[in-house]
Amino acid sequence: MKNYKIALIPGDGTGPEMLQEGVKVLQAAAKKFNFNLEFQEFDYGGERYLSSGEVLPAGAVEELKQFQAIYLGAIGHPDVKPGILEKGILLKLRFELDQYINLRPVKLYPGVETPLKDKGPEDIDFIVVRENTEGLYTGSGGFLRKGTPHEIALQESINTRFGVERCLRYAFECCRRRNKKKTLTLCGKTNVLTYAFDLWERTFHKVGEEYPDIQREYAHVDAISMWMVKNPEQFDVIVTDNLFGDIITDLGAMLQGGMGIAAGGNINPGGTSMFEPIGGSAPKYTGKNMINPLAAICAGGMMLENLGENEAAAAVEKAVMAVCAKHIKSLSAGRMGAGTSEVGDLVVSNL
Ligand code: IPM
Ligand code: MN
Repeated sequence: MKNYKIALIPGDGTGPEMLQEGVKVLQAAAKKFNFNLEFQEFDYGGERYLSSGEVLPAGAVEELKQFQAIYLGAIGHPDVKPGILEKGILLKLRFELDQYINLRPVKLYPGVETPLKDKGPEDIDFIVVRENTEGLYTGSGGFLRKGTPHEIALQESINTRFGVERCLRYAFECCRRRNKKKTLTLCGKTNVLTYAFDLWERTFHKVGEEYPDIQREYAHVDAISMWMVKNPEQFDVIVTDNLFGDIITDLGAMLQGGMGIAAGGNINPGGTSMFEPIGGSAPKYTGKNMINPLAAICAGGMMLENLGENEAAAAVEKAVMAVCAKHIKSLSAGRMGAGTSEVGDLVVSNL
């Protein structure tokens, strides 16, 4: 029997209770589809930082590399200054493990309410491929004359040909694999960011020559935000830089019903990838059995697909769809008509 070693980072707030339901579903899928999942838990997060002053211990990254995947709950603690845990854990792992793709499907499941009342599951089904190791996220920049009236703050967007090209290539491959509209849309801002997105655009068309079966489209980030709401059905795969990807995937999460269902993968195609619900740690719901675990369960499904367990991944998605369509009232925390663990149980029984 195939055995997968998975690192679990439950993290902060509602992260642990969401992940617990995810693990429940993954174990059920493993049993049904005949493979074995071996989980090892790591206590990285706000509590550990508050008690030890340490975000990630020395050697943590090397240790995590020994796993076939990482399953993450949420990072972010109300008593820790914003940025410390995000940069010290989440971004550090994405960068050090070279998870250069952030993959975020936007897909409306049957029975789920979207703010776009006249759109259905056939209209909202696209994937955002977000570059995950460069752009404005590298921390490049600095202060000059800090704290004085003449202070200057610089924050630089780093775009390398290598980084841009590997991301675009992943997006073309993803579009080909999906085999839906065969359209890849580059989301940029070529009218203002004339260096960064010039590189993106040139590389897009150059790499695109190798994919004659894929149609290339371009849209500015502001326009794409409008079209995601107005005509979501026109999108198949969208590829973009790190910051724009961050922003448009929160919008995408709302189109598919909210943070209760939105999942993502931080992918290093040749290394250790990490899967997480894309929302935050929602500290106010901690321990209340109110948070929706479906986003974490969907992230678990993405992890199975990434491991090559395609049948199990499809079954988890189908079970989630059934739970959305038949069993829960809303995707919002506290309004599901069932608790966190009951929703996990429902997915398992539909599996
Ligand atoms: C996300 C989050 C992170 C990001 C934060 C927590 C650093 O918003 O995963 O989208 O900006 O990438
Ligand atoms: Mn975000």
